[in-house]
Amino acid sequence: MVVSVPTVLTIAIAVASTTTAANSSNLTLPSGAVYIDPLGYNVVGANYTQWRTNNSLVGFNPTNTTPPFIQVFDPSFLNVTGVNATIRLVASHPGFSVAHEAPIYVPDLNIVCFSSNDGGPLGYSSWYNNSVVSMLNMTAVDNALASASGGVNVQIKTLNLSDTVQMVNGGTGPYKGNLLFVTSGRALLPPSVVLVNPDPPFNTTVLLDNFYGRQFNSLNDIKILPGTDVVFFTDPTYGWLLGFRPEPMLPSQVYRFNPSTGQVQVVADQFVNPNGIAFTPDGKIAFVTDTGAAGGLKLGFNQTRPATIYQYDVDPVTQSFANRRVFAYSDSGIPDGIQLDTNKNVYSACGDGIHVWNSGGTLIGKFFINSTTHELIFTNSGLLILDEERIYLANVKAQGIDLSAH
Ligand SMILES: *[C@@H]1O[C@H](CO)[C@@H](O)[C@H](O)[C@H]1NC(C)=O
Ligand SMILES: *[C@@H]1O[C@H](CO)[C@@H](O)[C@H](O)[C@H]1NC(C)=O
Ligand SMILES: *[C@@H]1O[C@H](CO)[C@@H](O)[C@H](O)[C@H]1NC(C)=O
Ligand SMILES: *[C@@H]1O[C@H](CO)[C@@H](O)[C@H](O)[C@H]1NC(C)=O
Ligand SMILES: *[C@@H]1O[C@H](CO)[C@@H](O)[C@H](O)[C@H]1NC(C)=O
Ligand SMILES: *[C@@H]1O[C@H](CO)[C@@H](O)[C@H](O)[C@H]1NC(C)=O
Ligand SMILES: *[C@@H]1O[C@H](CO)[C@@H](O)[C@H](O)[C@H]1NC(C)=O
Ligand SMILES: *[C@@H]1O[C@H](CO)[C@@H](O)[C@H](O)[C@H]1NC(C)=O
Ligand SMILES: *[C@@H]1O[C@H](CO)[C@@H](O)[C@H](O)[C@H]1NC(C)=O
Ligand SMILES: *[C@@H]1O[C@H](CO)[C@@H](O)[C@H](O)[C@H]1NC(C)=O
Ligand SMILES: *[C@@H]1O[C@H](CO)[C@@H](O)[C@H](O)[C@H]1NC(C)=O
Ligand SMILES: *[C@@H]1O[C@H](CO)[C@@H](O)[C@H](O)[C@H]1NC(C)=O
Repeated sequence: MVVSVPTVLTIAIAVASTTTAANSSNLTLPSGAVYIDPLGYNVVGANYTQWRTNNSLVGFNPTNTTPPFIQVFDPSFLNVTGVNATIRLVASHPGFSVAHEAPIYVPDLNIVCFSSNDGGPLGYSSWYNNSVVSMLNMTAVDNALASASGGVNVQIKTLNLSDTVQMVNGGTGPYKGNLLFVTSGRALLPPSVVLVNPDPPFNTTVLLDNFYGRQFNSLNDIKILPGTDVVFFTDPTYGWLLGFRPEPMLPSQVYRFNPSTGQVQVVADQFVNPNGIAFTPDGKIAFVTDTGAAGGLKLGFNQTRPATIYQYDVDPVTQSFANRRVFAYSDSGIPDGIQLDTNKNVYSACGDGIHVWNSGGTLIGKFFINSTTHELIFTNSGLLILDEERIYLANVKAQGIDLSAH
């Protein structure tokens, strides 16, 4: 069912109020975008009213524009957005964080599957309750958007998955035609790597649920090394920090798993909480986000801990991660899910929306939602943004890299 929602998304053609229009006068911006010249806020003085002294969850928005809209920090971002980019609401579920993480785009079916919030606000999942996996039909989204001018509300469908799938938090693929999820586990039920048939009856096969007999802490995100069928996943302590898993019994680390041989090994450690993971299309560089600043219900938010994307070289022989260095630090919230486009720009879901850095780690723009996003996924219709109770689509020119294994 499609419900037209008229009162959404104002489109802005404003220039940032606290910046000079330096060289934005000859910049052709999409109608939904605002140019914010970094030179305009390098010096803000002691009385700056939008100063975010004590709360990085408040978005950086030195404009008068009503979110959601596109912030352009560097003209090169226009090569990401294209000339006609807009951000439009495509689904809305007030009171239920149905669209949290684990988005998987299945091109053959033109659908995106994703999970609801596990253990956090408005997720209705806990030590006692599982989260759910849902499906959004992008053909229905395209049809709805074509017949409306603002936002729309396309109905999503919840999948009836096996009870072996507990607290899905990360996903990628398709992996040989299947959805590939990691679960965080729930109570004493183990975290796992699991395949799900994207067609009814959505039957599942668990590929891994332990490290040589020990349960993982709470698996969070997963990617396939491009050109291989080997997978890499992160294991932070959020299950415990959010009260739905027992105390951690392993360090917070990143694992490599070869489903063909069954071999599983650690490729990186020294994190507070490793979270999102991604590779460049050539498989030579890995990105892992450390979201240690977010300490869940137990530790709260601590701005002196990492909200940082690290970059590694992938060893061509062993595929372990070497030469860790900082790629970027997010100015808002934490960098959760992470994806790349075909031009090696890096996207991460942060406290005020989707941040985009070029391959050198310079912030070039944001899809500014003004609320905490957790994941994003490229589809044939554009960039889909998961914002818990809402889902947005940005019809950008950039395209995502191939995440599948054949
Ligand atoms: C912007 O362009 C104007 C001329 O159009 C030039 O005078 C000025 O130096 C430029 N500013 C920057 C920051 O490049
Ligand atoms: C804007 O105009 C200036 C001066 O004419 C030029 O140097 C600059 O490349 C132009 N910028 C864009 C994005 O076209
Ligand atoms: C900042 O605000 C205070 C109090 O209103 C004022 O006395 C002071 O002059 C202002 N400082 C600047 C640099 O504007
Ligand atoms: C920052 O927030 C904390 C918790 O809300 C509060 O205790 C502290 O006083 C605040 N610090 C400043 C400088 O506002
Ligand atoms: C701009 O985008 C096009 C198409 O995606 C790409 O071929 C080109 O390399 C990009 N240019 C830059 C400077 O990123
Ligand atoms: C942008 O929109 C205009 C007006 O609808 C259209 O003529 C043009 O082809 C579009 N450009 C792209 C690249 O989609
Ligand atoms: C668990 O699920 C039930 C049924 O959906 C709901 O009524 C209850 O509030 C949930 N409990 C928690 C702690 O979220
Ligand atoms: C998606 O929606 C289209 C248009 O309504 C429909 O033809 C198609 O069967 C749907 N796909 C799935 C997987 O439900
Ligand atoms: C979900 O599937 C289980 C079997 O796996 C079945 O017993 C149950 O009736 C199904 N529930 C719904 C709502 O289809
Ligand atoms: C689902 O069941 C079919 C038929 O038994 C089987 O071929 C397929 O491998 C199963 N898929 C998964 C992901 O378990
Ligand atoms: C915040 O984290 C730092 C670094 O781990 C720690 O020293 C400090 O005690 C923490 N602050 C709070 C309020 O927990
Ligand atoms: C962002 O959202 C907060 C509430 O979460 C609100 O107070 C603030 O005004 C919003 N900012 C903008 C620019 O809309």
